[in-house]
Amino acid sequence: MLNRKDLLGTADLSKEEILSIIDLAEQYSNENIKNVNNTRILKNITQINLFFENSTRTQVSFEIAGTKLGTNIVNFPLKTSSQSKGETLLDLASTLNSMFPDILVIRHPKSGAVQLISEKVKCSVINAGDGNHEHPTQALLDAQTIRKRLGRISGLKIAICGDIAHSRVARSNIFCLKTLGNKIRVVGPKTLIPRGIESLGVEVAHNMFDGLQDIDVVMVLRLQKERMDGGFLSSEREYFHHYGLDEKKMQYANPNAIIMHPGPMNRGIEIDGDLADDINRSVITKQVEVGLAIRMAVLDLLTRGHPLRKKCQEQ
Ligand code: CP
Repeated sequence: MLNRKDLLGTADLSKEEILSIIDLAEQYSNENIKNVNNTRILKNITQINLFFENSTRTQVSFEIAGTKLGTNIVNFPLKTSSQSKGETLLDLASTLNSMFPDILVIRHPKSGAVQLISEKVKCSVINAGDGNHEHPTQALLDAQTIRKRLGRISGLKIAICGDIAHSRVARSNIFCLKTLGNKIRVVGPKTLIPRGIESLGVEVAHNMFDGLQDIDVVMVLRLQKERMDGGFLSSEREYFHHYGLDEKKMQYANPNAIIMHPGPMNRGIEIDGDLADDINRSVITKQVEVGLAIRMAVLDLLTRGHPLRKKCQEQ
């Protein structure tokens, strides 16, 4: 059960809340395969998707998740909206609030912007990624993917490799996977690992040999060049040599270790293309499939108790 208005991050989610989301997602995952019609569940609920930053996986899966549950979906037309005329974020929030939406799904390049909007509106807000702060549904889908593939989601050793400094995925995964009882090690060059990250309860390694020892799950992150202002890397070629996941570096991990990447991938920079496509070890496409079910579960759980849902059940 999710007894909260918004899903803004994983930092304040309890183990019970995380498990309630991934358990319901498991049910939706099975129903999606069987083409079960769930379009009455969120009938009458209005969902607005506001993506101020590019997205493929998150935006499309939230749209399909809403469609599968029967929401009325509005995709906010950023380019043709009055944002280009100078309207502030808070005025936009207040404007949307006056139209009685039930759920806002928001991605924004600035950390904290999604929370700011959530404080201004009465409806539920889901953070679809804000700056380098949090991306909660990515962490939840990662947890469920691991459970599906390894049969458990506690007591594992998980390495998060690469650009930790600019990654909301890393932060949300650290909070979520630690709450579930896993050990986390972050691996990358000093320039891409925030100073003091040990205070989040993670181990730190600066080379892949030390970083991948005894590891059950290798999570590779994209180099977020759009958030870098120079000085973080000498060259992409050198980065791949030292930190790009390839066959040789995978030998340092446990023999049955799985490979994850939130996407979009830069093949040949943070991961070798053949390894990313190795269906025996890579679960990258499974992550995308599970993402749809996780987003259905989050839309469902956040709106339990909404008066329009009760009305719909009575009809
Ligand atoms: N992992 C992820 O958030 O992908 P998109 O940017 O394509 O949504």
